[in-house]
Amino acid sequence: MRATYSFPPGFRWGTATASHQVEGGNTNNDWWAWEQQPSRIALGQSSGLACDWWGGRWKEDFDRAASGAQNAHRLSLEWSRIEPTPATWDESALGFYRELLRGARERGLVPMVTLNHFTLPIWLAERGGWTNEAIVGHFERFVRKAVAGLQDLVDTWVTINEPNLVAFLAHLTGVFPPGQHSLTATFNAIRNIVLAHAAAYHAIHEIQPQAQVGLAHHYRGLRPANPRSPLDRWIAHFREQIFNDAVAIAAHVGSLRLPGATQRVPKAARTQDFIGLNYYSTEQFGFNLLHPARALAVGTYPPGSDLSPSGFIANVPEGFWHALRWANGFGIPIIVTENGIEDADDSIRPRYLATHIRVLWRAVNFNWPVLGYYHWSLVDNFEWERGWTQRFGLWELDAVTQERRERPSARFYAEICRANGLSSDMVGHYAPEVLDDLFPPAGEAELTRLVKR
Ligand code: FCB
Repeated sequence: MRATYSFPPGFRWGTATASHQVEGGNTNNDWWAWEQQPSRIALGQSSGLACDWWGGRWKEDFDRAASGAQNAHRLSLEWSRIEPTPATWDESALGFYRELLRGARERGLVPMVTLNHFTLPIWLAERGGWTNEAIVGHFERFVRKAVAGLQDLVDTWVTINEPNLVAFLAHLTGVFPPGQHSLTATFNAIRNIVLAHAAAYHAIHEIQPQAQVGLAHHYRGLRPANPRSPLDRWIAHFREQIFNDAVAIAAHVGSLRLPGATQRVPKAARTQDFIGLNYYSTEQFGFNLLHPARALAVGTYPPGSDLSPSGFIANVPEGFWHALRWANGFGIPIIVTENGIEDADDSIRPRYLATHIRVLWRAVNFNWPVLGYYHWSLVDNFEWERGWTQRFGLWELDAVTQERRERPSARFYAEICRANGLSSDMVGHYAPEVLDDLFPPAGEAELTRLVKR
């Protein structure tokens, strides 16, 4: 069967990146300090030069994105560069971002800018980071400076990337700085992130009334390990509420529901002009009597899952459907701000891409207001505590020589962007193993029946 799943005109096709992961030489933030400590990062690696965007290689990478028919790009600002010490501004850093954003626009890539993607200036981390409510005012001050300086080049802003993940990983599982293991600190961080987002939302609209502002939510598909076990069902549901729902609902209705307390955060009500959705995978949760706390933090993939090389991500496109349905529940536009898989050999990425784009098409054709899709990521970059051991790029990077090499998925994604759709020819070429699933052949019996009629 030959067919095409077409998207509406004007659909945004892009890739997403984050400052610390691509710029290199970000020595003034909490992550750089963390990377210098033994055993924090896989194989003792560090961000180093990263993709050398600070050195100017963003130009060649934007050329790649543009020649791959992308029309949008999501990137983030490095707070520690713009405000290296409290309330002192480095205008040359802002100048760098102006150049970067102009460069994106000149290449036909409409920019979307994240104001905080995981990293904090050292001076702020030293004062407790997200666990100290003082961060709310600091963030607002930074946002005002950045938005005032860049508003002529940007109209879509993500205030904070993945509030749930940053709170959990930094303060509960401890794999992000500052490496805490405290539920109280985790919930404090979530609350302060919601307040900081709300303050930023109002500040941005004051400066730039027509701006579109949202959060990038990490939506994790969550299932009970044993659907017949009430404990497993309870833990999956509980986790769903605090991990997937709490922040998004708080930014919708102005009330933050965390275990033990519902707090009113009235300024956060209706502070999303769109839902930014980061979806990667779906995992299962089971209750373990020996380690009850683990049930909150550690999920697993069922045996037989279609796994990425390090087992970090399972290819579960139905979970993307659930994520989009969840996002649609908020009744505002949806932007898929991240989706992708680590795969150095590009052996699973083409089918991951094909099956997820097909789900995206279905959502669009249910008239859910999905405006765009940003694949994570354009080029391999520094993957936080997993260092360089995981490769999410459409383009491969040799971080030592800084050479880039195109993966087949880069060509596949370029064909999708150029056609504004996903065709059976593309899938037959790049991911033939899922062709029959995505484009079911007409059954012979069916054909005979039709012909006989
Ligand atoms: C997301 C992060 C992004 C990247 C991808 C793989 O959780 O937002 O920076 O690390 O995972």
